[in-house]
Amino acid sequence: MTQTFYRFDIDLGLYQYQEIPQTIIPYEKRFERSLSTEIKRFQSELHWKDMWTIPEVYTRLDEGYDFWVYRPKNQIKGWGWLSPEGEIKNVYVSKWSRNQGICQKLILQALNRALDLDMESVFARVDVWNTPSLKSFERVLEIIGCKSNIKIVEEEYARTRKTRK
Ligand SMILES: CC(C)(COP(=O)(O)OP(=O)(O)OC[C@H]1O[C@@H](n2cnc3c(N)ncnc32)[C@H](O)[C@@H]1OP(=O)(O)O)[C@@H](O)C(=O)NCCC(=O)NCCS
Repeated sequence: MTQTFYRFDIDLGLYQYQEIPQTIIPYEKRFERSLSTEIKRFQSELHWKDMWTIPEVYTRLDEGYDFWVYRPKNQIKGWGWLSPEGEIKNVYVSKWSRNQGICQKLILQALNRALDLDMESVFARVDVWNTPSLKSFERVLEIIGCKSNIKIVEEEYARTRKTRK
């Protein structure tokens, strides 16, 4: 089934590294229990049929995805992914931590990483109804001042289904 998204294409030509709080760090296997707890919380709120699982985390990492988490007080309370194709995806912030700019920092972390990887641009697809997510991307574009293109697209949402062998 196709979905309607805003597609953000962000040109990193003039992008400058942005400061990221120390509570946003790359995922490590020792965080697995905390991640699993937060995935359950995520699903009890959002019931997302395409939600990735813990085994899929390792499949994605093997495939070259970057995965970082928001981890205040040793508990995972959010996350974000950057795919090898340069897609920022599945950004999430736990309910009680929202509206403090964490999502914007997770997106900036993706942009910093994309710069490390010499990507010239990144993209993201945001459901048209998702105002908080749209606002977060718009705010990031204001902060970084990079060239960007935003258009409405209708696409299939593709998910990683394979698990690690
Ligand atoms: C989308 C999500 C990650 C945003 O996280 P967050 O940390 O609260 O985001 P931020 O604080 O960085 O920015 C949110 C912005 O949306 C605004 N906002 C939040 N709810 C809003 C609403 N109902 N209407 C209008 N604006 C809203 C906030 O005021 C803020 O903008 P501001 O910085 O200009 O004040 C979070 O809501 C979430 O995890 N949602 C469920 C999962 C999801 O939808 N993920 C996105 C996948 S693309």
